[in-house]
Amino acid sequence: MKICNVVGARPQFIKYFPIYNYMKQIQTDADIRVEEILIHTGQHYDYNMSRTFFDAFGMKSPDFHLEVGSGRHGAQIAEIIRKSEEVFLQQKPDVVCVYGDTNSTLGAALAAAKLNIPLAHIEAGLRSFNRQMPEEINRVATDHMSDILFCPCRNAVDLLTREGFSQIINSGSLLDQKTGLSDFQVDTKTPVVVNTGDVMYDVLLHVKEKMARNAQIMKRFKVEAENFALLTLHRAENTNSEENFRKIVTFVNDSFRDTEIIFPIHPRTRKVMKQFPVSFTGNVKIIEPMHYFDLVALLMQSRLLLTDSGGMQKEAYWLGIPCITLREQTEWPETIESGWNTLYRDYTGNHHPLPGSRNVYGDGFASLRIIQLILNWLNSP
Ligand code: UD1
Repeated sequence: MKICNVVGARPQFIKYFPIYNYMKQIQTDADIRVEEILIHTGQHYDYNMSRTFFDAFGMKSPDFHLEVGSGRHGAQIAEIIRKSEEVFLQQKPDVVCVYGDTNSTLGAALAAAKLNIPLAHIEAGLRSFNRQMPEEINRVATDHMSDILFCPCRNAVDLLTREGFSQIINSGSLLDQKTGLSDFQVDTKTPVVVNTGDVMYDVLLHVKEKMARNAQIMKRFKVEAENFALLTLHRAENTNSEENFRKIVTFVNDSFRDTEIIFPIHPRTRKVMKQFPVSFTGNVKIIEPMHYFDLVALLMQSRLLLTDSGGMQKEAYWLGIPCITLREQTEWPETIESGWNTLYRDYTGNHHPLPGSRNVYGDGFASLRIIQLILNWLNSP
């Protein structure tokens, strides 16, 4: 049995880690023969955006590197389709797994679907309902080409049901990791939707344990625990529009002038800051993109997160750090409903987190469910 994982952009290296880890575990099991191949599209190529994640998580180097690099969306996706198709034809995987909503996700999904290779989408069913976001188009298209749709939460299952998906496992509730997996019966001719929980929670639990109260990090960035905010800003809909970019910079400058803010900057944002005549006030300290473990350690010690990242909204939620999302909408509405997250246009100066556990995104065993379900699916008649 051959499983092919495709990654290419920063968040995908992180999402792949728990899958890689669990695959490694089961490969030592004599009863299960699974070969795993990893393709890196090369969408992200800077050391800080790519290699550092493989080093930090101790993951193997990709088996195939497509080296597509940056470019216009059409050209970038076309290169990913062309080059991943070549690898699929040569390697003949039994299933291709794609992650999240980047151009790498869509390109590899199209190549696999056109070759009729079963396609599994990890982080399926999310919607922002904003087609201006390139990620929204990537998500919708990938979901509707997939055979196995792994959802991080209940809401994602419900959205897919509304879009016409009918084979929903366990009525959309999280599968029991011990009993639910082996009971899984499926018609492989019809796309199947499963609530597995979020792989990012698997990762966070792993990293959190490693980084608990890392005092070094505070010294390195010369900040005091719970006395600073963390900022990230890189989304195309924010950085491609001078108007949106200016709105966000003005919001941050006006609302947090007295707060020390650490801002690890994405390469694209650094570029546009040279073009747009706007700048942050002096309390915002711009630094290079951070090592993921350091980022989590810093977030754990911060007082507030300001971000347009999807993943970081949830990381703040899990860690109990209030978040302000620098976008017009979010595909993680549960974080808003819980009171831990606020869209920046709704921010009034206060957060009102609701009491209760923060477990809408599963239990930290998403990767175990995903691999077991793929194996069951491949063994189904
Ligand atoms: C991509 C994803 C986005 C994700 C983000 C994480 C899409 C449509 N978007 O956006 O969902 O949140 O990754 O970071 O796939 N660049 C470099 N070095 C690199 C990579 C990029 O300098 O290693 C610069 C280039 O100028 C490039 C620009 O960043 O043109 C944009 O990179 P690209 O991969 O196209 O999209 P991201 O903005 O990173």
